[in-house]
Amino acid sequence: MFENVKDDFPVLINNPLIYLDTAASSLTPKTVIDKMNEYYMHYPVNVHRGVYELSHRATQMYEHARTVIAKYINASFDEVIFTRGATSALNLVALSYGMDYLNAGDEIIVSELEHHSQLLPWQNVAIKKKCRLVYVPLDDEGRITVDNFLSVLTSKTKVVALTYVSNVMGYITPLKPIIDAAHKVGAIVSVDAAQAAPHLPIDVRDLNADFLAFSGHKMFGPTGIGVLYGSRHLLAKMTPIELGGDMNDNVEKDHAVWKDAPYKFEAGTPPIAEALGLCEAVQYIKKLDITAIANHEKALAKYTINALKKIPGITLYNPTTETGIIAFNIDGVHPHDAVTAFDQDHIALRAGHHCAQLVIKWLKVPATLRASFYVYNTFDECDQFVQSVIKARDFFLSVGF
Ligand SMILES: Cc1ncc(COP(=O)(O)O)c(C=O)c1O
Repeated sequence: MFENVKDDFPVLINNPLIYLDTAASSLTPKTVIDKMNEYYMHYPVNVHRGVYELSHRATQMYEHARTVIAKYINASFDEVIFTRGATSALNLVALSYGMDYLNAGDEIIVSELEHHSQLLPWQNVAIKKKCRLVYVPLDDEGRITVDNFLSVLTSKTKVVALTYVSNVMGYITPLKPIIDAAHKVGAIVSVDAAQAAPHLPIDVRDLNADFLAFSGHKMFGPTGIGVLYGSRHLLAKMTPIELGGDMNDNVEKDHAVWKDAPYKFEAGTPPIAEALGLCEAVQYIKKLDITAIANHEKALAKYTINALKKIPGITLYNPTTETGIIAFNIDGVHPHDAVTAFDQDHIALRAGHHCAQLVIKWLKVPATLRASFYVYNTFDECDQFVQSVIKARDFFLSVGF
């Protein structure tokens, strides 16, 4: 599967790198880089403003990108807001919807699996608006289950802010029944899809999510761009959190009239080259087929987990993961020491709390190692990785770390 795919990635050409840190940022295919270069080489001008031909072209390409991305998640064109990344998208929901529509005593459901970019904006809303943050109890494996979600859902729940796929444990949240139940009590649901959009088919209509956020750089796209999907009726009643150029229709001395969504949420010069790059990244995913991508990653993770299970001295935290993320540690070895050893074998992976400190605390460890797979990884690389784990374990234990 994906035999020649490495050739699509300039950084992998003539490079022994085994890249297992896609959950942080994926590598960038040449087509995406070329598309951004095309903008800078041929029509590097601002959008929505100029009435000359180059500006028309830039605008047309930028809006085309929005259409392609909207279609990719089965949204409408006007429900897709370009942001700086998943972090800004999730902040927008909390700062706009949360600050305007929540009141003292309202409850916001989150989980210990949340990335800080989903958790901290709602913590902030809870503090400022005197709401209560309620945590879905995780099950023994560290998963969000429907039953555990229902156990904390009340008539006071006004917002449910959950991750689609945990960036530490790789688990998929059973969102559909959760969203249905949340809507029955009148709550809105904000989904952090930063780890889902690169790996799972997403259909916002089927999911019925109110908001859904993701980043370009985890799905073959560039840094500096993300997407906030918001359902049309909610976006219509929301206030922009950034005010400035291009988001208004008319400005008077004491007030201004904003444009409709999505433009009222895109003040200032937007990430134009990045939108084009993300559009190209989506085309690349479509070409490879998202279901084939998911199956490939799952197969690599399963294969590696089976090998790691046989090695004494390894603790696996998510042996039943259904995505391409493996959370583990080498017993007695600090994860930061371990990744330094892997680096010497040209293997890049991540150690730390992965900006999700609550789940690391839930695991009762100071940090974890995280290997994450994508289309450019191979079974041969999994074997080399497992050998490197054994080598690191033997080295550190022999020198008495
Ligand atoms: C689950 C999850 N949510 C949100 C983010 C934030 O994404 P960004 O840093 O691109 O804004 C990340 C990034 O690691 C993530 O893994």
